[in-house]
Amino acid sequence: MSVDVLLGLQWGDEGKGKVVDFLAPKYDFIARFQGGPNAGHTLKFDNKKHVLHQIPSGIFRKNKHNIIGNGVVLDPVIFKKEVDAIHEKFNIDLHEIISISNKAQLISPVHRLLDRVLEENKGKKKIGSTLKGIGPTYQDKIGRHGLRVGDVLSKSFKEKYEKQKSYHDYFLEGHYNDSFKNEEEDFFLAVDFLKKFNLTDTEYLINNNLIKDRKILAEGAQGTLLDIDFGSYPFVTSSNTTTAGACIGLGISPNKIHNVYGIFKAYCTRVGAGPFPTELFDDIGDKIAQNGKEFGSTTGRPRRCGWLDIPALKYSIMLNGVTHLYMMKADVLSDFDKVKVCIGYEYEGKEINYFPSIIDSDNIKPIYKSFSGWTSGVNSSRKYSDLEENFKSYISFIEDNVGVKVKLISLGPDRDETVLLD
Ligand code: GDP
Ligand code: IMO
Ligand code: MG
Repeated sequence: MSVDVLLGLQWGDEGKGKVVDFLAPKYDFIARFQGGPNAGHTLKFDNKKHVLHQIPSGIFRKNKHNIIGNGVVLDPVIFKKEVDAIHEKFNIDLHEIISISNKAQLISPVHRLLDRVLEENKGKKKIGSTLKGIGPTYQDKIGRHGLRVGDVLSKSFKEKYEKQKSYHDYFLEGHYNDSFKNEEEDFFLAVDFLKKFNLTDTEYLINNNLIKDRKILAEGAQGTLLDIDFGSYPFVTSSNTTTAGACIGLGISPNKIHNVYGIFKAYCTRVGAGPFPTELFDDIGDKIAQNGKEFGSTTGRPRRCGWLDIPALKYSIMLNGVTHLYMMKADVLSDFDKVKVCIGYEYEGKEINYFPSIIDSDNIKPIYKSFSGWTSGVNSSRKYSDLEENFKSYISFIEDNVGVKVKLISLGPDRDETVLLD
């Protein structure tokens, strides 16, 4: 009777979508527990690629039920677009295979507008938000005037919406133009669409199925270093992206958590602003970006790239209680003469091996260890024994330093480009 959690250990986009889709056949339920349409989870199979934003990544596997948990912030307009696109492209009807928590918060046009105006007001200190309304929606939740999915069934939904909007009138005065009014129209149409889904107490759905020994995989969004408490605040998202967030965001008790799959890229990327100690500003960084096609799945922005950061990885493993490491995109580091890993930092005149909480590019300098590279031949490996020795040394070094074994290696975006280790 347990739940496994899969989450990102870096700044998001580690490849969570690919692995959830890969693992889904072993589970009965796949559940998203936080975040919203700021996420972009890419799946590739049968020569088709698809990006999911709010819908869990288990929908393409037969007989799986997918849950959008109470910790999620749901934009009904984006939800409708996603559902329609999946129906059109794959002929899958999601009504029967998705349940949505009646306690998940609704993102409205007001939140999207607030996100934009708040970011504009930050000038040079912009967070680089995806502008999907995430921060303002969580603010309203904590401020106790959020609109929840369950509210859409209420006869007074419109009044509730207007009441919530009125809290922001002072700040948004002058922004309610025609384009905003069109967005409001789309919002109410999408809310009607949402009503046809199973909106329920998903915490009961999950716990009742746990009693029946059904298997549940909790799918994280964003990454640990974007966590509202432990990330590089204020350059973070507005939810708890860690294992504990899965308990809160689904209504499961901590003693039900079993395996924690920590996903990391063989290097690092970050999209949006904020500290990134191992960021590369040279040809090597450009080559990683090019090989890895490092452009945001949600916003299309170029992702910043750099070497793997072991102190940061250890920090994330500690916060999440990671039991299995999954290394993604190792193929992207093929054909480099040298591959480097950050093993510590020079920080304010001292050598340290932990991840400090206050970082700016002036007070931190990574200390690297170099490895001989591997070739693109590694891309066709399908079992551990096929892997090149140089690459195996890289894996062993990471395992020895972080104290957790790498159990899966991903060598391409497709479901099949995956190597499982014993
Ligand atoms: P997520 O947000 O964690 O699900 O990750 P994204 O989908 O935003 O970004 C990961 C990107 O890398 C997507 O374009 C995936 O198709 C791609 N990808 C995933 N695993 C691999 C891999 O092992 N190798 C390569 N080259 N691409 C991968
Ligand atoms: P997935 O699930 C990468 C980043 C944004 C910005 C910061 C705050 O695909 O890994 P927000 O819109 O949440 O207010 O933005 O967080 N960010 C992500 N970066 N992957 C994501 O999700 C992200 N979701 C948010 O770029 O820096
Ligand atoms: Mg992504």
